[in-house]
Parts: sequence; structure tokens; C-alpha cells
Amino acid sequence: MNVILLGAPGAGKGTQASKIAEKYNLLHISTGDIFRANIKGGTEIGKLAKSFIDAGKLVPDEVTCAIVKDRLTWEDAQNGYMLDGFPRNLFQAEELEKFAKIDICLNIDVDEALLMDRICGRRVCKCGESYHVSTLNGETKCRKCGGELYQREDDNPQTVKARLITYNTQTAPLIDYYKKQGKLATVTSGEGSPDEVFEQIVEILDK
Ligand code: AP5
Ligand code: MG
Repeated sequence: MNVILLGAPGAGKGTQASKIAEKYNLLHISTGDIFRANIKGGTEIGKLAKSFIDAGKLVPDEVTCAIVKDRLTWEDAQNGYMLDGFPRNLFQAEELEKFAKIDICLNIDVDEALLMDRICGRRVCKCGESYHVSTLNGETKCRKCGGELYQREDDNPQTVKARLITYNTQTAPLIDYYKKQGKLATVTSGEGSPDEVFEQIVEILDK
């Protein structure tokens, strides 16, 4: 099963991706995580991506599409995967069709008013786990691996505003794109607890 996770910044794509990966044994591919790993590693891709990410804009399509196309050829992607944060505009969606067969696009629907608080309160671990300060009770270490929690550089109000504009103008049209293809499943419980959201996703995927 090959799945796309669609949703605004802070909708809970990453949070649900780790739960889905565990239950369905799907590989989690997050283009945002790939870019952040490249930035940390000081690669050419990282240097290019950083300026776009800091500005809340999309990294150029040629770079992003080439990364995903290559990643999907790896051995570990052959038994099914979940794309988190890709595609993010119509061009990327059309490119994806040339090298992948998508079964379903899960759109996690969350009111925009909630997103700023969710994102600015997010704390992440290098292992991929993410938390919200409201549930951390002052803890500063990851509950899964004990790593130090930190805040993503693009999780500041100014960049979040730009990311939301980018989402609304470039990514949201993909909802209609996948609806027309009969592949869209809307996760209406996106404002519920992470477990409630996951429960609905399981219902959808088990069908
Ligand atoms: P990316 O890393 O994909 O960021 P994003 O899309 O902005 O999404 P987030 O990771 O911020 O949110 P999420 O939906 O994963 O939410 P999470 O589960 O963490 O992309 C970053 C940048 O990389 C882009 O801006 C762009 O520049 C570049 N990029 C990436 N892909 C690209 C592409 N294809 N093309 C070009 N450029 C690309 O949850 C958020 C918070 O809410 C957490 O604190 C979490 O604990 C909390 N939370 C989650 N679920 C719930 C819930 N149900 N109830 C309460 N709190 C919750
Ligand atoms: Mg994410």
C-alpha cells in the first residue's frame, strides 16, 4: 500500500506517520525530514533547501522530485510507503504519477486557527518523535529514546505564517486533484486527540 499524507503545516502528518508506519509496516518518507538531515549534514542540497525552508517557501521542484524519485527505488520502499509532505503542488503530483502508483491520499483536516499554537509549541527529537509543550509537563528529553528535545528553526510565528500561505496557495489544490482521481480520504477527526485521529485513519486504511 502506497499512501500520501496531505495536510497543512501542523495538521499532524508526522505524528500520524509514526503510528501508521508501526501498525502497517509502511516506510515513512518525509521530504521535510530529508531536507533537515541534509541541512544538518551540510550538503549542497541542504545549503539550497535552507533558504527556502527558512522563508516558508517550497524547495524547487526539480530538487524535491529527484530526491523522492530516487528514494522510492531503495529496497526498503518496495513493500509500501507513506509520503509525508510530498507532493506539495500540482507539478509534483503530476511528476509523482510518472514514477509511483499511489493507492490513497489521506487528507488530515484541521482548522487553521489551531495550527499556529500546535507548531510553535512543538518540540522534536532527532529520532523523529515530536511532542507538544502542553503534554510534556516540563520534560526536556524524548520519551522514546531519551534524546534532547529541541525546536525546529522554521517553527517561529513569522515562518509559520509564510508556510500557511504556501500551503493554501500551492498545496491545498491537491485535495481536489486526488478527489477527482477517487483517491481522497478525508480524516475529519484531525482536531481530536492523536489517538482519535489514528483510530479514524485505521478505519479508512482497513477498508
Ligand atoms: P515539513 O517538515 O513537511 O513541514 P510541514 O508540512 O510544515 O508540516 P509539519 O512537519 O510542520 O507538521 P505536521 O503535519 O507533520 O505536524 P506534526 O505531526 O509534527 O516541511 C518543512 C519545509 O520543507 C517546507 O516548509 C518546505 O520548505 C520544505 N519542503 C518539504 N517538502 C517539500 C516539498 N515536497 N516540496 C518543496 N519543499 C518541501 O504536529 C505538529 C504539532 O502538533 C506537534 O507539536 C504535535 O505534537 C501536535 N499534534 C499533532 N497531532 C495533534 C493532535 N491530534 N492534537 C493535538 N496536538 C497534535
Ligand atoms: Mg512533519
